[in-house]
Amino acid sequence: MTLLILNGPNLNLLGRREPEVYGAQTYADLTRELTACAAELGVSVEFFQSNHEGALIDKLHKAAPRTGGVVFNPAAFTHYSYALRDAVKASGLPVVEVHISNIAGREAFRHESVIAPACAGQISGLGFDGYKLAMRFLRDRYA
Ligand code: DQA
Repeated sequence: MTLLILNGPNLNLLGRREPEVYGAQTYADLTRELTACAAELGVSVEFFQSNHEGALIDKLHKAAPRTGGVVFNPAAFTHYSYALRDAVKASGLPVVEVHISNIAGREAFRHESVIAPACAGQISGLGFDGYKLAMRFLRDRYA
């Protein structure tokens, strides 16, 4: 099974960007940790990060059928991108939305996800562990 780890805007700046919110670890650290996690779970992983809504949509369109599930941190698009919500639905893939920070404990505009209703579920506030839990869930449920 191959899992797609999809990250949206500004997540390429992890480690430098608001470290008090997102931690000191970088995007490269994230991919390293998740590659190790994938080996433990016995799955393959593909990583894609983009700052562009259309690129994320294109990636979702192309993901099926060789992708078994998607771990998706849509970043700020979470809160207003109906186009990404539609793309998640259109993909027909199981998608778990993850957030490094606890979006429920932050500014009001971050409390709503317009994408989560199209997902299998959402994990928020558990740091990089959220991605790992989502990977395990997708492997156990859909492999
Ligand atoms: C985020 C939370 C979003 O509100 C924010 O815009 C991000 C990152 C998170 O991982 O905590 O860019 O998705």
